[in-house]
Amino acid sequence: MTSIQPNHSNDTTTEQLPSEHIDIPAAPTAEVHTDLPADQQRILAATYAFVKQELSGETSGHDWWHIHRVVQMARRLALAVGADDYICSMAALLHDIADEKLNPSKEVGMQRVADWLEQQQVDEVDREHITFIITNMSYNGGNNPPLPSMEGKIVQDADRLDAIGAIAIARTFVYAGHVGDMMYDPDLPVREQMTAEEYRNGRSTAINHFHEKLLKLKNRINTPAARQIAEERHRYMEDYVARFYQEWDGR
Ligand code: ADP
Ligand code: NI
Repeated sequence: MTSIQPNHSNDTTTEQLPSEHIDIPAAPTAEVHTDLPADQQRILAATYAFVKQELSGETSGHDWWHIHRVVQMARRLALAVGADDYICSMAALLHDIADEKLNPSKEVGMQRVADWLEQQQVDEVDREHITFIITNMSYNGGNNPPLPSMEGKIVQDADRLDAIGAIAIARTFVYAGHVGDMMYDPDLPVREQMTAEEYRNGRSTAINHFHEKLLKLKNRINTPAARQIAEERHRYMEDYVARFYQEWDGR
């Protein structure tokens, strides 16, 4: 049979000129921030424990290990450009505590983040910076404007990098299973345009999600170091989707 395959070879629009290779530092040892002031180290240690406890049993792809990967990637990217490790780590740690999928509403989720930062006596300027990043970093169907601070750009890139590549493929099928979507249905067309509401609650499949979001992420990466990682992961994901269609058609 011939399936209705979306031709998405044009999705990867703004093909970048080959740029200089960037040497991206390795991630620092997980959960070690010994070069930071004592109060920031205390706040980080408490926040690691809090988030682990909150998200360790989560099964929609927003579990503790997703957070761990995002924190470590954000720290690598922060090292590459000299951004603030404390702000990046705190925002990355808390970014999914407020997720609308894990809370009755986005507002309730953001209140939990605000309460935690206050309880930990985080400085007001830092509190505002961290909550601003978390409020505005989500993909939101592609409808949010770019983040202004370097730390915001980095944390958003780190989160997006976890949605591109081998782990991202696994997360997508896990998520589809979690919400009761099929892995693929050739009769269900890819949605080209969608509102945030349609993105979140409309019907889709794991394979459609590659076209509706994952294959678009490469062109929405903010920083050159993250883009370099994204491009390689993107190619891997494109190959995967191509093979999926190939096997679907019995080839
Ligand atoms: P964001 O918080 O940036 O909006 P999401 O929480 O929507 O991102 O998505 C996180 C990950 O969950 C995605 O990268 C993807 O792997 C998976 N996911 C989200 N929505 C879907 C979907 N409709 N179908 C399959 N996977 C999805
Ligand atoms: Ni995330």
